[in-house]
Amino acid sequence: MNNLYAAAAIASLLIPAARCALAQKQMLAATPPMGWSTWNYFHHDISDALIREEADALVSSGMRDAGYVYVNIDGGWEGYRDAAGVLYPNSNFPDMKALGDYIHSRGLKFGMYTGPGPETCGGAPASYGYEAQDARMFASWGVDFLKYDLCSFRVIMKRDSGGDIEKSDALMIAAYRKMHQDLVATGRPILFSLCQYGWGEVWKWGPQVGGNMWRTSGDISDNYDRMTSIGFREAGLSKYAGPGHWNDPDMLEVGNGGMTLDEEQTHFSLWAMLAAPLIAGNDLRKMTPETKGILLNKEVIAVDQDPLGKEGDRAYAEGPLEVWSKPLQDGDMAVAMFNRIKGATGMTLRLHAVGWRGPAEARNLWTHESVGRINASYTVTVPGHGVVMLRLTHPGH
Ligand code: GLA
Repeated sequence: MNNLYAAAAIASLLIPAARCALAQKQMLAATPPMGWSTWNYFHHDISDALIREEADALVSSGMRDAGYVYVNIDGGWEGYRDAAGVLYPNSNFPDMKALGDYIHSRGLKFGMYTGPGPETCGGAPASYGYEAQDARMFASWGVDFLKYDLCSFRVIMKRDSGGDIEKSDALMIAAYRKMHQDLVATGRPILFSLCQYGWGEVWKWGPQVGGNMWRTSGDISDNYDRMTSIGFREAGLSKYAGPGHWNDPDMLEVGNGGMTLDEEQTHFSLWAMLAAPLIAGNDLRKMTPETKGILLNKEVIAVDQDPLGKEGDRAYAEGPLEVWSKPLQDGDMAVAMFNRIKGATGMTLRLHAVGWRGPAEARNLWTHESVGRINASYTVTVPGHGVVMLRLTHPGH
């Protein structure tokens, strides 16, 4: 019995709350969560029927089997809260428990959305004052994932802190801790996704309030400038991520039409290098072969999902030409050469500059071909706004 299991066995004899907390840590988000969310493409235009169709598409496209298991309903499901405090879905969602059962029957997991404020960002009722009641209701629906979006809680922070930043941060942290405790108290393992746009350096306290992932920035939008500005902003944050707790640069825009193929490959490569949650945000019912080729690139997914759980980071940059590296469990290393200018440009990977000792065998993870042996450096033309992503292996390994 290793130490972790021994600790679990002892904890199981102790108070139930301790057992739940440990169970959540062991079971949830050992690798970055993968799935699909309604928000980026459908916004508030969502329904029970749509969710079922997208769940079916996750299965038929092969995405579920590639690891995308969470089906996340974002803002737009909420109806009203009655006098007894019960929050009802709107008429597009006649039976949430039945929808959860359907999602589970397809071998998928069920994600929901609310926030610590009186209202969501969309102006619907959120969980302020009803946290425990809502947590119990989500658990009774079979929810496996909760995105908790700050939104109108900012008004409470302002009101109760008198403008003092430290007090305001403390209120925010307490609000996230409260919902975590209420989720744990349900006894159901529910992955906790913090969405407060990186405020108060969330990566420093996210794990302490039970966060399994936390947004590091404001919202993504479907264009190269916004995508890269939030993705590359994670440089230097790799030490805060690890199994069970991940930096989240927001959901994917792959397949939504606002980026070129090279830009979308950059998006997916960067998210994999960041060990980011891979939550697709497109309409899965109508994917082009190019979109599938990106979202189903198993070699890039394997970099994201590597069990070592080390987020990659910038190794070096020459202006807009950036080389990132990510150590992998078997001693391999993923390397991504990002060209952030519009025209194709020659870039050079220098092995010692990414901390690699000796020669390497390299494989290109987008062409799925070996590029052979690299002795000290490798020069290649990288397309404008594009990437060359390699997996390095020690020769003979
Ligand atoms: C915020 C979040 C988004 C999404 C919307 C829903 O903007 O950051 O990811 O959840 O709210 O209204």
